[in-house]
Amino acid sequence: MRSEILTILRKAGGEYISGAYLAEKLSVSRTAIWKHICALKEEGYDIDSKSRNGYRIISSPDLLTPGEINAVLATNVFGCVIKYYKTVSSTNNAAKLLAQQDAREGTIVVSEEQGNGKGRLSRCWFSPAQKGIWCSLILRPPFLPQEAPKCTLMAAVSICKAIRSLTGVQVGIKWPNDILYNGKKLVGILTEMNAEMDRINYVIIGMGINVNVTVKDMPVEIRNTATSLLQIIGKKVSRVRLLCAILAELENEYEIIKAAGFAPILEQWKKYSVTLGQKVKVIGINETFYGKAVDIDDYGALLVDTGEKIERALAGDVSIRPAEK
Ligand code: BTN
Repeated sequence: MRSEILTILRKAGGEYISGAYLAEKLSVSRTAIWKHICALKEEGYDIDSKSRNGYRIISSPDLLTPGEINAVLATNVFGCVIKYYKTVSSTNNAAKLLAQQDAREGTIVVSEEQGNGKGRLSRCWFSPAQKGIWCSLILRPPFLPQEAPKCTLMAAVSICKAIRSLTGVQVGIKWPNDILYNGKKLVGILTEMNAEMDRINYVIIGMGINVNVTVKDMPVEIRNTATSLLQIIGKKVSRVRLLCAILAELENEYEIIKAAGFAPILEQWKKYSVTLGQKVKVIGINETFYGKAVDIDDYGALLVDTGEKIERALAGDVSIRPAEK
């Protein structure tokens, strides 16, 4: 009911809509409308009420509710279904459950807060309420399981492009899945997959974006290594607009991969990379090696010239530092 009231008020573009009109349109009493308006005001909507004229929307809070997202979203498939939580342990875990219950490709899970946000390599992901975008997208890509890392690179390119075009902040990508600004982490991506030998059942792309997180909000241990758009620009960024821009980029890049293959995404990834050409330390699954990051192959693996041979890293952690042997 509340989202329907909001839709009508938004369509009116700031003009007053009478309580009687809303009541008739939504088949409820004027008192019920008034109660819903009070609840919306509690949620942070600035709604002006005048006894003769009715209600007029002045501004909306930056909540990632389906209503707020749908008012801005311009995609065909991504975000077609939005599962919204005020708080959840991990949007990736919630998305996995939905995917196992045959959720449609393009379904997203968003939460204002995560109680147990997951990072890569079993790390925790700090996810305070209403300060970031904590979102997971369900995909069912027609790729082979070994091609799944392409989804991570696609996500990194899409998020990078959306942040650059919406905010002008010139972020870069650290292989495989971090988005950095001035060496500090702004975005993390956690891709999880369920597959058989020759086909992917689903891929979950989990995105953690520090949007309006202040230094004070951050645990001391990440203050030197993490940043947020608020810290970089000095003003708040609309999470709804950023999420919608990311979903539009993702949908576009996904269509490109399916129609034309991975090469165009790889080109863009290289353009935004802050890893290629750098001396790196790669902590792989079985070994650690040092060298110069020289390229990325068609599967998204990082190629590192150790001086003796070209090592291929498909997963792991990379630090960009003058690496001492
Ligand atoms: C990383 O370690 O860099 C990856 C962090 C990924 C965090 C996001 S927040 C939304 C989604 N849900 C999770 O539990 N993790 C991912």
